[in-house]
Amino acid sequence: MSNSNAERETWSTRIGFILAAVGSAVGLGNIWRFPFQVGQNGGAAFVVMYLAFVVLIGLPAMLVEFVVGRRTGMNTVSALKEFGSPRWKYLGGLFVFIGFVLLSYYSVIGGWVLRYMIGSATGSYMTQSAGSYFSEVATGFDALALHAVFMFAVIAIVALGVKRGIEFGVKLMVPAIIAIFALLAVYGYTLDGAMDAYAYYLSPDMGYLLANWQSIVPNAAAQGFFTLSLGMGVMITYASYLSEDENLAVDGVTIIGFNTGISILTGLVVFPILFSAGVNYSRAGAGAVFISMAEAFSSLPFGRVIGILFFLTVALAALSSSISLIEVIVSYAIDEFNIQRVRATVLIGTAIFLLGAPVALDPSGLDTHILNLYDKLAANILLVIGGLLLISVVTIFHTDKALDEIEKGVGNLVWWGHVWLWIVGVPVVVVLGVALTLGIVEYVEFLRGDFIPFVQEYL
Ligand code: TRP
Repeated sequence: MSNSNAERETWSTRIGFILAAVGSAVGLGNIWRFPFQVGQNGGAAFVVMYLAFVVLIGLPAMLVEFVVGRRTGMNTVSALKEFGSPRWKYLGGLFVFIGFVLLSYYSVIGGWVLRYMIGSATGSYMTQSAGSYFSEVATGFDALALHAVFMFAVIAIVALGVKRGIEFGVKLMVPAIIAIFALLAVYGYTLDGAMDAYAYYLSPDMGYLLANWQSIVPNAAAQGFFTLSLGMGVMITYASYLSEDENLAVDGVTIIGFNTGISILTGLVVFPILFSAGVNYSRAGAGAVFISMAEAFSSLPFGRVIGILFFLTVALAALSSSISLIEVIVSYAIDEFNIQRVRATVLIGTAIFLLGAPVALDPSGLDTHILNLYDKLAANILLVIGGLLLISVVTIFHTDKALDEIEKGVGNLVWWGHVWLWIVGVPVVVVLGVALTLGIVEYVEFLRGDFIPFVQEYL
């Protein structure tokens, strides 16, 4: 459980760490969650707010996680206990809990991706309406089986360990994701509707933003944490495997740059394909990307091949994110309960599979009520609480330790360091407090308006 644990693994290279963090960040958040959040929150106006959160809050929040992870070299629960005080272990406990919830539904969506990959190969979704195909495959036995297959892949990689499993895996997956998406963006550019698509995606309506900030702010904050894998200790855990004193700030900027670049690239793939196929994009909800892309691939030139490539890439991105989610829990279990990695991974993976089963068996089909219950709780509330508390513990209560750690690999920051920590500590915490309050209000509305009526109907 301590730094001196001789068996604790480290990354073999610096690029291994960066790719693992990029692999964690780039995932369903960029490709599945982002587009329907954009659709539900007013298009490019949401994109602006989201980018602001990523840069102004995401970067400091990521550095805070790096600092705690590298300084302690421990799993997230022990790390917080060590860096903060014994009481902070409860925050680590919260992180472990968030990991269970998040990965449980993330993996169900990973299963959908596998289904659409197969569907592209066999052409099965091309013979019926995209909406009814989605309702058929999104829940039920197939969804459960593919959720199991996806979890199995996650378990297999993480059971192999940090170097041989995670680092090796991301070194293959991350370059493949970028290469295939770049290719698909070029394909998108050659399509007829490309210019209209770029205009839609890249021109925000500021009036909408001002009129609807109460709903845009919490959702943009949630998406910011989600897409950068922040607020639940992934970056603490990954930074705990760093052995050298690298410049953490440079690493953070690199990772965020990659993630943002790939988000934009996703838009350059998705929107031209949808526009040129004449697909109505305003259709919101968790099925949006699946339904719209399937509809588009049904009519486009080379639709099947492009479909296979697209969903294969999404599957890789989802996998490289999922391994980071489970690793938070696995590293805790290995240290705390002294069990072996393989056994820990299998047990935890099985528990996560079971927790996700209700999402895969959701009787509401296209409405995805159970998925929304999990996703809104995890993203809009728990990640924001996690990020808020973590930033507080580091920037308000442990300023000197934090500065000392950031300065390694950077040099003496003099008074700049204090200014920076103040900026992070105070305004960011206030903004996140507002986002959290609005998020809770929205969640209560969701429970009253959607979820409780749904439960009453089915139980
Ligand atoms: N960032 C990933 C995505 O965008 C999902 C993810 C992985 C995540 N690890 C996380 C989200 C930790 C929040 C916290 O798909």
